[in-house]
Amino acid sequence: MNNDQRFFDFLKERIGLDVTSVGPAIIERAVRQRSTASRSQTADEYWQTLQGSREEQQALIEAVIVPETWFFRYPESFATLARLAIRRLDELNNLRALRILSLPCSTGEEPYSIAMALLDAGLKPHQFKVQGMDVSPLSVEKARGARYGRNSFRGQDLTFRERHFVADGDSYRLEARVLEQVHLQVGNLLDPALLANEAPYDFVFCRNLLIYFDQPTQQQVFEVLKRLTHVDGVLFIGPAEGSLLGRFGMRSIGIPQSFAFSRQAAPAPEPAPAFAPTPLPVRQPLRNVAPPPVRNRPFAIPTPLPVTGKAVNTEAAALLASIANLANEGKGAEARAVCEQYLRSHEPVAQVFYWLGLLSDVAGSALEAQGFYRKALYLDPQHPDALMHLAALLQSQGDTAGARRLQARAARSERVDSERKR
Ligand SMILES: C[S@@+](CC[C@H](N)C(=O)[O-])C[C@H]1O[C@@H](n2cnc3c(N)ncnc32)[C@H](O)[C@@H]1O
Repeated sequence: MNNDQRFFDFLKERIGLDVTSVGPAIIERAVRQRSTASRSQTADEYWQTLQGSREEQQALIEAVIVPETWFFRYPESFATLARLAIRRLDELNNLRALRILSLPCSTGEEPYSIAMALLDAGLKPHQFKVQGMDVSPLSVEKARGARYGRNSFRGQDLTFRERHFVADGDSYRLEARVLEQVHLQVGNLLDPALLANEAPYDFVFCRNLLIYFDQPTQQQVFEVLKRLTHVDGVLFIGPAEGSLLGRFGMRSIGIPQSFAFSRQAAPAPEPAPAFAPTPLPVRQPLRNVAPPPVRNRPFAIPTPLPVTGKAVNTEAAALLASIANLANEGKGAEARAVCEQYLRSHEPVAQVFYWLGLLSDVAGSALEAQGFYRKALYLDPQHPDALMHLAALLQSQGDTAGARRLQARAARSERVDSERKR
């Protein structure tokens, strides 16, 4: 069953999952698990079972999805939502309720966090409605149950738990006041007719899903997301997904750690500087200098390991994939440790510094994040994610000109990129 392309293609077609985003091992494990459960002796036999049973198809999907989520994941985004919601109600003269979509909503922590954030900000229940949607009926069922264990409460500030939950044995039950604000439904973001009869949403949360799609699928779902987001609306995405939206003509609203984008037209590119942009307020890589102990200078240029060629590439690629997975699961400390491991054993690459920037950004260390983004841009001046995130940070610090320069640079590199592809 190893590397059986049929199963990869099936999952790609049904839920958009790109095998390279999670690695073949995760899909192979799920196929083996379902094959055993359905008593199939061979891959062909399981393939036949899969073809003939909608239940089995759903079971395989349930076995591969990543339902990882928790309450108030990226807390700043909820504070931003609350501020924007108050402003939006004002713009609408309170004539209608705000419409908010959480897709994918997984087991409900995200849509319920939205509802708690808005109630805590003083909005009245009639002033907003949240729609949660996910491709997994099991997750939606769990969301409807609204009963959560400790794993769903991972942030440092858990005061919301006292306000909105009732302890019940080992778990916590969400209060009806919050529950009633959220409507939950099964749905697939790949469905081009998804929510076709619904008015657009003022705020759309689509976090930690686009990373599992390849580029053509991202393009396809972006069209759906664009249709679902009101022209004056805001789209919240996951930290690793910023550059995708930049690519599709959306623009960060410039609030760090919120990962929020609007449809505003991109700024006109500024004239190119008369001289090459001055690189970084960071030290040059000290290629010929033996690095001091790593713990004191985690970002020193590492001594490459005495391995070469394919083995290095494979190991480096595995480390990069592992950083992405850990970061997306919210395991910041572990992701950072793997970044440092990478820098100890390989030539530095922009992507690792970008991840370190993102991890610092999410942890609230804006200054540290800036340093890392700049290091990423030193190694790869057109790194799209680093450009977008650094632009958002600069904008939030009032450096609008700096932010615009970086956005224009990102737009220029996009144009060159797409012209090259033509
Ligand atoms: C990592 S969770 C993200 C949950 C939440 N948005 C967050 O960031 O915490 C990813 C979710 O995407 C859902 N999913 C995967 N493919 C999907 C699709 N094509 N349409 C809708 N949901 C999908 C999975 O079922 C899973 O619950």
